[in-house]
Amino acid sequence: MAADRTTPPVAVVTGANRGIGYEVVRQLADRGHHVVLGSRDLDRGRAAAARIDPGGERVTAVQLDVSDEASVSAMADRVTRELGRVSVVVNNAAILYDTWAQARSADLGEVQRALDTNLFGAWRVTQALLPLLRRGPHPRVVMVSSEGGSLQSMSGGTPAYSVSKAALNALTRLLAGELRRDRVLVNAICPGWVATDMGGRGGRPVTEGAAGVVWAATLPDDGPTGGFFRDGKPVPW
Ligand SMILES: NC(=O)c1ccc[n+]([C@@H]2O[C@H](COP(=O)([O-])OP(=O)(O)OC[C@H]3O[C@@H](n4cnc5c(N)ncnc54)[C@H](OP(=O)(O)O)[C@@H]3O)[C@@H](O)[C@H]2O)c1
Repeated sequence: MAADRTTPPVAVVTGANRGIGYEVVRQLADRGHHVVLGSRDLDRGRAAAARIDPGGERVTAVQLDVSDEASVSAMADRVTRELGRVSVVVNNAAILYDTWAQARSADLGEVQRALDTNLFGAWRVTQALLPLLRRGPHPRVVMVSSEGGSLQSMSGGTPAYSVSKAALNALTRLLAGELRRDRVLVNAICPGWVATDMGGRGGRPVTEGAAGVVWAATLPDDGPTGGFFRDGKPVPW
């Protein structure tokens, strides 16, 4: 992971071997970031990184299972040791769009699994990288959420996913408030319905969904914090 220690800014993206996370890595690397591509399977992560950056200068694959405390600590230790800085954390990894389930009969083990990745995963990764973020000049945290977590539009169905994203939105508000004095901008982003393995066919292109995430990752210092956005525009909580 040898890299220039003064520039460029470093971004860490979770769940980035495919889907929206992969495209966020590609767009951030294009904008001049050194991107740490988190993947729970390191071989898949390395293959993804090589597709974006065959020279291996702008993208580094790192093993990262956000549901595993030891994996998150190892990632943070490695980034601290080898890069020494982080400007952007994109908490993108998520599971269990449980279209087959209902709250009244949901398997709570499944709900717990969703929370462990979609909520606690983002929480763990953010806590682990906070010391590095705080040191940097323009720190940004992006929670890749979903309108499925909007209380206003919730009316039954996808219980594990919806509750985990509503909780992620609450975490966004808490962190934004607590980290405002450290100049860390923390926002939740809905990428819209995107044609990925999770989104299925018919959604918008992944480039468009990822662009709204990259917008939040590259906000100016006077940009918003504690908000919920899609395509740069507010979405109701
Ligand atoms: N697609 C949509 O329409 C849509 C709409 C609204 C919100 N979103 C949100 O956008 C984000 C990305 O979704 P996507 O459509 O790109 O999903 P996806 O195609 O299913 O990709 C999910 C990614 O997350 C990774 N992941 C899952 N569990 C993980 C864990 N414990 N640790 C690390 N990585 C893990 C997966 O890794 P593996 O390859 O190892 O499984 C994969 O790289 C998610 O937060 C999702 O909720 C998507």
